[in-house]
Amino acid sequence: MPRTEFIATGFHVPERVVTNDDLSRMMETSDEWIAQRSGIRTRHWVSAGETGVSLAREATCRALDRAGMQAADLDCIVYCTCTPDHFEPGNGVFLARELGLSDVPAIDVRNQCSGFVYGLSVADAWIRTGQYRRVLLVGAEVHSRGLDRTTRGRDTAVLFGDGAGVAILGPTDDLQRGVLTTHLYADGRHAEKLWVDAPGLAHDPFISEELIRAGKHRAVMDGRDVFKYASVLMPQSIATALKQNGLTPADVKLLVPHQANLRIIEMVQKAAGLRDDQVYVNIQKYGNTTAASIPIALHEALDEGRLARGDLLVLTAFGSGFTWASAAVRW
Ligand code: UT7
Repeated sequence: MPRTEFIATGFHVPERVVTNDDLSRMMETSDEWIAQRSGIRTRHWVSAGETGVSLAREATCRALDRAGMQAADLDCIVYCTCTPDHFEPGNGVFLARELGLSDVPAIDVRNQCSGFVYGLSVADAWIRTGQYRRVLLVGAEVHSRGLDRTTRGRDTAVLFGDGAGVAILGPTDDLQRGVLTTHLYADGRHAEKLWVDAPGLAHDPFISEELIRAGKHRAVMDGRDVFKYASVLMPQSIATALKQNGLTPADVKLLVPHQANLRIIEMVQKAAGLRDDQVYVNIQKYGNTTAASIPIALHEALDEGRLARGDLLVLTAFGSGFTWASAAVRW
């Protein structure tokens, strides 16, 4: 069986930059509060005409360019998002259409902040078994249009940003390299600790003025609990990934964690026994872009020369569900 390697990555964020000071003109908050609690300084928000799929298309074009490939070379799309353009069908088919593809499968993965690592696990299994050879793995989100940009929604509105990151994956016969293992977890007992209740078919009707008036279409979060579990469960899943491959923290060249909160990343780093230079952070620029955060960070890390052939890369994520995941990759 071959292993799965990263052929190329790409990312795209909207042009519009929103600073903490911009937010403090919309709601009662401050640059100091946001920076101190989360490490975030700016995030990008879409403008009229931009959608999750349009961001994903731009990111895909960059990755295809780097890979020296055409869209027609792709065999499959795995599209991870918790902010789809429409209720149905999933964004994957819209992206396929944008890319001029009408004969490849497209699956949507809805695992929020863990989406990209879950998607990687799916793509890896398909590539190793030979079902698909060239898989486009997408993490793309438009949060800004869903945020409550008033003081009522400030605990979440200041955290999330828009953006897209992709990876083109394919098989390699070099069994020393590529995706070594992926580790996926979920605990639905915490489902309502970070969720968007409606629209949803548990409600009849599934959307109504009443639901909207009650703010049920907004993300609601128990920030403290999310923080608490994230800082414990991500290091645990990193430790599992290392142990399963007979590796130790000293072997890690780079950890690219989901970028949710700088304080969470610092706690994960400490619990995982990693030095500053072993952890990649770019949350200050983009905020939390959920499924897009890892591929955007990975792309920037590669551009900065933080990973070379043979280096050990570890990915980890945690989010709504709760779901969490890790992956060990020999670059
Ligand atoms: O990928 C997973 C996605 N989510 C996360 O990772 C979030 C994890 N949680 C967190 O990052 C943190 O819990 C937050 C950054 C969301 C909040 O930090 P905290 O230190 O846990 O603050 P808190 O929720 O305990 O709130 C402290 C105070 C409250 O005021 P009172 O009740 O003490 O008077 C909040 O109302 O801060 C207030 N507050 C704000 N103040 C200014 C909440 N949001 C804001 C805001 N600006 N944006």
